[in-house]
Amino acid sequence: MSTLLIQNATLVNEGREFKAHLKIEGDRIAAIGSDLVPGPQDAVLDATGLHLLPGLIDDQVHFREPGLTHKACIASESQAAVAGGITSYLEMPNTQPQTVTYEDYQDKLDRAKATSAANYGFLFGGTNDNVELIKGLDKKTVAGVKLFLGSSTGNMLVDKPQVLREIFSSTDLVIAAHCEDETTVKNNLKAHIAEYGDNIPMEKHPVIRSAEACYLSSSSAIALAKETGARLHVFHLSTAIETELFDNSIPLEKKKITAEVCTHHLWFSDAEYSTKGSLIKWNPAVKSAADRDALWQALNDDRIDVLATDHAPHTLSEKQNPYTKAPSGGPLVQHALPALLTKVKEGKITLAKMVEKACHNPALLFDVEKRGYLREGYFADLVLVDCAAPFAVKKEDLLYQCQWSPFEGTTFSGSVRTTFVNGKKVYANGKVLEKNAGKALTFDR
Ligand code: DOR
Repeated sequence: MSTLLIQNATLVNEGREFKAHLKIEGDRIAAIGSDLVPGPQDAVLDATGLHLLPGLIDDQVHFREPGLTHKACIASESQAAVAGGITSYLEMPNTQPQTVTYEDYQDKLDRAKATSAANYGFLFGGTNDNVELIKGLDKKTVAGVKLFLGSSTGNMLVDKPQVLREIFSSTDLVIAAHCEDETTVKNNLKAHIAEYGDNIPMEKHPVIRSAEACYLSSSSAIALAKETGARLHVFHLSTAIETELFDNSIPLEKKKITAEVCTHHLWFSDAEYSTKGSLIKWNPAVKSAADRDALWQALNDDRIDVLATDHAPHTLSEKQNPYTKAPSGGPLVQHALPALLTKVKEGKITLAKMVEKACHNPALLFDVEKRGYLREGYFADLVLVDCAAPFAVKKEDLLYQCQWSPFEGTTFSGSVRTTFVNGKKVYANGKVLEKNAGKALTFDR
């Protein structure tokens, strides 16, 4: 069995930063301690000056396979993910076909097994007519159920109240929801088309996909979850007002209603639509600087539980369409961690809190087995970061199949040095070294 001793790193784990050595044996963390010495056969990696974190678990990505592989595929995006220190991901069902049958779910698992650089899990898509399938899902292998309570890429809106009530009442899997009120968005869009025709300015995106639309949908999903006892996780909060809907008086393990925030909503604000245009068009929309401040506040005070990306690539030519035709979403997995390291340096969040939200909490929330922590016996999914090495985002270094990033031209204040997935060094110093090290996530339920 291969053995590697990572020496002299500062480990960040379970609320602490401390200097120690960490030993990998095969695919697991074998030992953590300050007195570990290499055996005669052990390889050694000196990580002096670097921080060692559990690999990030991104609970919301869109890798576009099958069916939308002109935008991205599991191989390309999972390699970008490991270059960004993300060692596990949960992928969304709005592919073609949609992941709404057992056969299509298995097809995704098979595809990822053949080509994924990172560990993988999938959310099963809820529709207006597959509730019986949701009831029969295998809790050990299915990460959760995704519901689009507002329509976005892929036409997966679930809008029949009696169906929603039945889904909420009949599964104890995590129901992850995209919350934007459809009627509000439709009416706003209609009014803007009446005013601007085909030339709606991109700045109007957060007016059309408004804070009100988010709040109406999130609050009604939460009311339904409270009534039915469902386990609800609200994806990608984007407004100050929604943060008031979430509780920090109990630990995550006891919560039935949880929330996620994504990198783009923490980084950008509506001031940037004038320069970045559709490159920062997401659903829900990037909103005001005050909303962004409130999201940081709620993340730090534990009303928001998870940090993720909502990585959702589209081609540049698709994005260059006018407002009504430009799809929402953008690629993020390669850059989310360097962006967060920049925010750590700015004092927006501590490294330990970031690790809690991006590594520990997704594992806890989805019951991911033996990942998300630096613990003996856990899988050796690890990332070494250099908090002091600036990282300039350049087109030629992008690993996304779509070959653009909303961060081009940005220099982050920290960078990813080395990533391990299941004990294998998959990425180091700008190069992906192993393209198929990922395993299926399993869930301890
Ligand atoms: O901006 C978004 N893009 N939001 C979503 O909910 C879907 C995603 C996509 O798949 O393009």
